[in-house]
Amino acid sequence: MLSGKRILLIIAGGIAAYKAIELIRRLRERGAAVRCILTKAGAEFVTPLSLSAVSGDKVYGELFSLTDEAEMGHIQLSRDADLLVVVPATADILARMAAGLANDLATTALLATDKPVLVAPAMNVRMWLHPATQRNIQQLQSDGVRFVGPAEGDMACGEYGPGRMSEPAEILGAIEGFFTAGSNGLRALVTSGPTHEAIDPVRFIANRSSGKQGHAIAAAFAARGFATTLVSGPTHEPRPQGVKFVGVESARDMLAACEAALPVDVVVCAAAVADWRVAVEANQKLKKEKGKPLPVLTLAENPDILATIAGLKRGRPRLVVGFAAETERVVEHARAKLARKGCDWIVANDVSPGTGTFGGTNNTVHLISADRTEAWPQATKEQVGQRLVARIVEALA
Ligand code: C5P
Repeated sequence: MLSGKRILLIIAGGIAAYKAIELIRRLRERGAAVRCILTKAGAEFVTPLSLSAVSGDKVYGELFSLTDEAEMGHIQLSRDADLLVVVPATADILARMAAGLANDLATTALLATDKPVLVAPAMNVRMWLHPATQRNIQQLQSDGVRFVGPAEGDMACGEYGPGRMSEPAEILGAIEGFFTAGSNGLRALVTSGPTHEAIDPVRFIANRSSGKQGHAIAAAFAARGFATTLVSGPTHEPRPQGVKFVGVESARDMLAACEAALPVDVVVCAAAVADWRVAVEANQKLKKEKGKPLPVLTLAENPDILATIAGLKRGRPRLVVGFAAETERVVEHARAKLARKGCDWIVANDVSPGTGTFGGTNNTVHLISADRTEAWPQATKEQVGQRLVARIVEALA
């Protein structure tokens, strides 16, 4: 699946540098071409010889090497790849990247590149938690640098906590995830339909959501070149073309499927997720028996998928969009929901009886963000989906 992809791997100076060897092997097994830049500190942990043996290519290290510059300049080195990966990303290299320094070949390539960058941080837990490092991470994230890890666990230095570099398999997963992005380089996640919350093996609690609007949004994303995952509860809607479809029943299944689909650039939660489920699902069908008291259903609160994704500390999609189906004071309620859920936009629609929104072909919506409210004219759900995706494309540009 990585066949023909070119990775420029930058190995910085940390004990986790040895994991780069395993990563290179796995990348090459999947058909990727790997070229390495080894920093001076990195060379204290792995040798150019071992990297060159596993990558099957020359290893670059010097910024001012006349032979390297004659064969391949540092600018070309940084542009020849499809993706730059920093493994391990030490506190030092992250700081230099955040500051825009170019004081060795690695940071020069990172500054000169026009390609996406993925980093796998690895450092002592105190270094990771230090406000300076956290500041640098925030800066890099807003510069568009992608992160994988760090994990939490025992460290080579004997301490415990976040800062341990992700395992090669996980870094590989992040690299593969990057290359599965759509033709526009972006990924979208859409939830749609109702959820079914089981009472017993044959009965469930559900709602009237048809899934029409959510499915139309997923179709619009796919048409605009997004790699799109549609996580949907049970509906009668046809699956849109070119979309990865994940069918689920309950709210908890929906949340798990959404989490598995992350990271994405944008999420639109259009599903009518049941707020409550039956606290304890019966293993056997509840029986109606003469003289027996009526069954009592005790409810438990379901996870809020939109609020969970909007509240992610790491890996939050750049844009989180929710829906608000209201029957009165639509804009006012939707605005309150925007704040409560922590999302960026709310698409508010009036579902009061008589509007025909539920299950109907048309929708009349307001698009609400922190600083503005737009009233859109009535349109088909397909048109609303296309218009919403067009706005999302603008916002992500
Ligand atoms: O709170 P309310 O259900 O009105 O919020 C609607 C928005 O929240 C929709 O975007 C819906 O998809 C989302 N939601 C969710 N998980 C829930 C409840 C609602 O994602 N458990």
